[in-house]
Amino acid sequence: MSELAAIILAAGKGTRMKSKLPKVLHKLSGRPMLEHVIDAADEAGADDKIVIVGFGSEKVTDFVGGRARVAIQKEQLGTGHAVLQAEDLLAGQSGTALILCGDTPLLEGAELKKFYETHLQSGAGVSVLTADAPDPFGYGRILRDTAGRVTGIVEEKDATPEQRQIHEINTGIYCVEMPLLFDLLKHLSNQNAQHEYYLTDILSECLSRGRAVAGIKTKDFDMVMGVNSRRHLAAAQHIMNERILGRLMDEGVTIVDPASTFIEKGVRIGRDTIIQPFTMLEGDTVIGEDCEIGPQVRFSNVKVGDGTHIQFVYAHDAAVGSHVQMGPYDHLRPNTVIHDGVKVGNFVEVKNSSVGAGTKLPHLQYIGDSDIGSGVNMGCGTITVNYDGKTKHRTTIEDNAFVGCNSNLVAPVTIGRGSYVAAGSTITKDVPEDALAVGRSKQINLPGWARKHREE
Ligand code: UD1
Ligand code: CA
Repeated sequence: MSELAAIILAAGKGTRMKSKLPKVLHKLSGRPMLEHVIDAADEAGADDKIVIVGFGSEKVTDFVGGRARVAIQKEQLGTGHAVLQAEDLLAGQSGTALILCGDTPLLEGAELKKFYETHLQSGAGVSVLTADAPDPFGYGRILRDTAGRVTGIVEEKDATPEQRQIHEINTGIYCVEMPLLFDLLKHLSNQNAQHEYYLTDILSECLSRGRAVAGIKTKDFDMVMGVNSRRHLAAAQHIMNERILGRLMDEGVTIVDPASTFIEKGVRIGRDTIIQPFTMLEGDTVIGEDCEIGPQVRFSNVKVGDGTHIQFVYAHDAAVGSHVQMGPYDHLRPNTVIHDGVKVGNFVEVKNSSVGAGTKLPHLQYIGDSDIGSGVNMGCGTITVNYDGKTKHRTTIEDNAFVGCNSNLVAPVTIGRGSYVAAGSTITKDVPEDALAVGRSKQINLPGWARKHREE
């Protein structure tokens, strides 16, 4: 038996998004709106969660995975009808239902928890969370009597011109006593402008039974903003990003230009790190202290140590140590580990490889499927030839080796510790420790050839 069961409405198509994708799966800050709402329900302490799915139900159910139970609303007959679909899953429950919409991604758990506690204290059968909207267009308006008590909610499409002047809106978030909720829902009608069963009508239904209704106002309209269109999605993305950057700045991170910096919720950054403009940090990216990241860095799931400087780089699923210098114009692909003190210069691509401490990849390298030791110097234009058209092979370059410019290291191959590879070599055999390998054709000089050629 749960004390607080969250019911999250996510069955609507989201017609105004003009999309094939169900609205609640549109992303902001890298994650579907629905995920942000489920997170908020968790943070509020909901010990049971039910997501109502309908349009694109397979996709939405797949996404929900094990995080919540799912009930299907076969036809989208309105928000009241949607909540009714949770009845079987909540049969015989007392406690409170916290009703949320999957399209209000800026919700925060702490505010929901406060709302729930105020609801319990009020003794009301139904509480609705309200807010004063700067532009209330499209929202249901809260109707109050002269004593300030909530008497009902009227939708934009059903409202009189006077009611449309009201700025206090329905956030679509409610706390309702169970089993009262399902009893109220069974009495809804669809006699309204949209011919839908409106959840909002449970307020007047509750009052008609002599039970109290509470309207609890939040000061933070942004937090309860509903996303109905791509314009709203962009506005919500902007607000969420500002919040994340604000929190990071409060924690001691310098963000030079918040307007051109995009950081997702799960990213962590240490003190005194400076984030330069046009930078995107995504997923589970973690950056240490005293780093300088950007301009123009995109990291997705990248771990970075302390004191590292990186500019104009795209990296994903990779790790970079401390005191590394990197950029401009490098690409780190999955399973790459760059150890401490490495220098990665310009136009370098590294994939599925480990680069040992203090090694230099100064210009124009492709390093794939390689294990490079420490103190190695890779000359300009050196390439690990890792693919024979069928299989990928590994290259090993041991500590302190020196690989001359424009060499091809044809894998599988090992370049021994402290060895030299002459510039322009194509290496197909292992190079022993401390040896010099020359893998190129010998030069011949033809004296006077050029002069003769000119005079002919
Ligand atoms: C709803 C409220 C409105 C409130 C606004 C807050 C009603 C009638 N109106 O309007 O008072 O100000 O939210 O954002 O409740 N859904 C279903 N099944 C349906 C219909 C909708 O699951 O049959 C889901 C949608 O997927 C969405 C949520 O319910 O997540 C809200 O639906 P939407 O159509 O966006 O309602 P609004 O018009 O915004
Ligand atoms: Ca909405």
